[in-house]
Amino acid sequence: MQLLDKVALVTGGAKRLGREIALALAREGCDIVVHYRSSRTEADALAREIRTLGRQAWCVCGDFSNAYAPEVTMKTAWDLAGWIDILVNNASLYSHDTLASASVERMEELWRVNALAPILLARKMHALACESRILPAGYCGRVVNVLDRSIASASAENLPYWLAKKDLEAFTRAAALDLAPRFTVNAVAPGPVLPPEDSALAEPAGPVPLAVRSLPADVADAVLYLCRAVTVTGQILFVDGGQHLL
Ligand SMILES: NC(=O)c1ccc[n+]([C@@H]2O[C@H](COP(=O)([O-])OP(=O)(O)OC[C@H]3O[C@@H](n4cnc5c(N)ncnc54)[C@H](OP(=O)(O)O)[C@@H]3O)[C@@H](O)[C@H]2O)c1
Repeated sequence: MQLLDKVALVTGGAKRLGREIALALAREGCDIVVHYRSSRTEADALAREIRTLGRQAWCVCGDFSNAYAPEVTMKTAWDLAGWIDILVNNASLYSHDTLASASVERMEELWRVNALAPILLARKMHALACESRILPAGYCGRVVNVLDRSIASASAENLPYWLAKKDLEAFTRAAALDLAPRFTVNAVAPGPVLPPEDSALAEPAGPVPLAVRSLPADVADAVLYLCRAVTVTGQILFVDGGQHLL
């Protein structure tokens, strides 16, 4: 699929990996809806930067710990841009909480942000595409979920976060079937790319078979590939220098 003139919604797009993905899509010719929760200044700055590339950009706010926010976010983005071709479910809440330490409320919040929100965003996008009468001929929606290479093996260290990413992995495969033929649903699973903003959450990167640490641009490249691919769905693309094999 050519990305020129497609419209992409990137959640958690104002900073860090989301920003890299949004800019990569814009450089390929996409108009971008930047979703943010608290980083309004950064989202506005990114939208201005995207416009200097000659593309349209909008910003949408939503806190995905609220179960109704994802559908409102998708509808707002759809109405602003006319429609959405590409959804990149990048927003995420990271936590070191273990099974023992996480409160029920914390577990629920991690699941809502990391699993339920991407699911509801994809469902709403599909529903709006099915209802729309103005979609361009040949419209085929793309959903790319951003997972974590830790899903490749059992992880007890941050079980509630890991469990939510595992749910999103399962959704990626099931939704690929459920939303076909109008949508493809795929995922990228990065290894350690950027240390968390909160240095207390930093972890050792661990051994990397290829001895090369993945960069944000590598993750963005994987997203671009999955957005272009016409016959690929239900796939998890690890971008981790081979760490998931260990
Ligand atoms: N960084 C890495 O090395 C790494 C490694 C493996 C996987 N990943 C995955 O890659 C993706 C991006 O990583 P990252 O480190 O760039 O992510 P991040 O900085 O931890 O989070 C991205 C954005 O998610 C948004 N967010 C957090 N809580 C939210 C909520 N309740 N509602 C809506 N949005 C919320 C925040 O937006 P605001 O700033 O606007 O509040 C934040 O900027 C994530 O899915 C992550 O799991 C990253």
